[in-house]
Amino acid sequence: MITILAIESSCDDTSAAVIQDGFLLSNVTANQDVHKKYGGVVPELASRAHQANIVPVVHTAIHNAKISINDIDAIAFTRGPGLLGSLLVGVSFAKGFALAKNIPLIEVNHLQGHIAALFLKEKNIPHTDPEFPFLTLLVSGGHTQIILVKSFFEKQVIGTTIDDAAGEAFDKTAKILGLPYPGGPLIDKYAKQGNPERFKFSRPKVGKTNFSFSGLKTAILYFIRDESAQNPNFVKENLYDICASVQFTIVDILIEKLKNAVIQTGITEIAVAGGVSANSGLRNRLRAEAAENNWTLHIPDFEFTTDNAAMIAVTGYYKFLNKDFAGQGVSAEARMKDN
Ligand code: KG4
Ligand code: ZN
Repeated sequence: MITILAIESSCDDTSAAVIQDGFLLSNVTANQDVHKKYGGVVPELASRAHQANIVPVVHTAIHNAKISINDIDAIAFTRGPGLLGSLLVGVSFAKGFALAKNIPLIEVNHLQGHIAALFLKEKNIPHTDPEFPFLTLLVSGGHTQIILVKSFFEKQVIGTTIDDAAGEAFDKTAKILGLPYPGGPLIDKYAKQGNPERFKFSRPKVGKTNFSFSGLKTAILYFIRDESAQNPNFVKENLYDICASVQFTIVDILIEKLKNAVIQTGITEIAVAGGVSANSGLRNRLRAEAAENNWTLHIPDFEFTTDNAAMIAVTGYYKFLNKDFAGQGVSAEARMKDN
């Protein structure tokens, strides 16, 4: 039996998970409310909150998994990319734990983890892994990419954002509208009650599979500024329609680029991953496009879309099978590239 404890602390969620023989036993996440009022993550506050949360979160993950601390065969952790101060808390904890228990360390790339979430299995819950090769639309707060996944550890980026990520487009729009951070889930909620065709925003021109969201952010900023100059209650009176229209525009851009990637590669095995894949508008649109274009679609369970340690655990499990271990000299890497 192989039992792995995993830690994720790259941004503002402190998470720990336990996986045994490829099946997830527990996944515990402490969110940090402290950033809400600042309109974004404050790195120093994030690392302090990780320090306060990490021991109780790990303790709960081990408890919920109904294992003993001595059953753990290896510890996996997010090495990067992410906020350096946040990553350091997880990396230091993992190194100390590995040293104390004399077990191997496994470093995990956060982006690899988001894709690995598609392979998460839980006992007694039916699950189908994506078949290689497949295309993944990876949409998070820090990244927006279309990735050709050739095997578990072999990937090729075929499209990427040249400026903001899709999650940033949601979060920055929310900030303009006076909504708290992170704005994505709130825009999603309000969009459900609004008219997506009410307001139109222009689309970026950046090639067939690349993305750009900074122009959209500026367009929304000027639009709200101009409308509010005429009617100070414009945002309040039209919040649902604004959210629905912005969400529709972001989702439509993502889908257009994904469709171009399908044409370019001829691959119809399609997956989505990352925090923005929690968005109900994106999930519904992907399902509709899959039905219309005969795609086989893989969407992670809602709880594994935003940052979590379960996705680090499943990557750690596959790396354990490959005996791909890190030494005690390993350090956090804020700008870590894919591996
Ligand atoms: O993957 P993630 O948890 O962290 C990063 O690796 O960046 O993604 C966080 C991003 C945030 O920008 C958040 O607003 C967005 O995912 N997000 C959503 C939704 N839930 C989270 N965006 C749109 N709709 C949602 N329901
Ligand atoms: Zn993430």
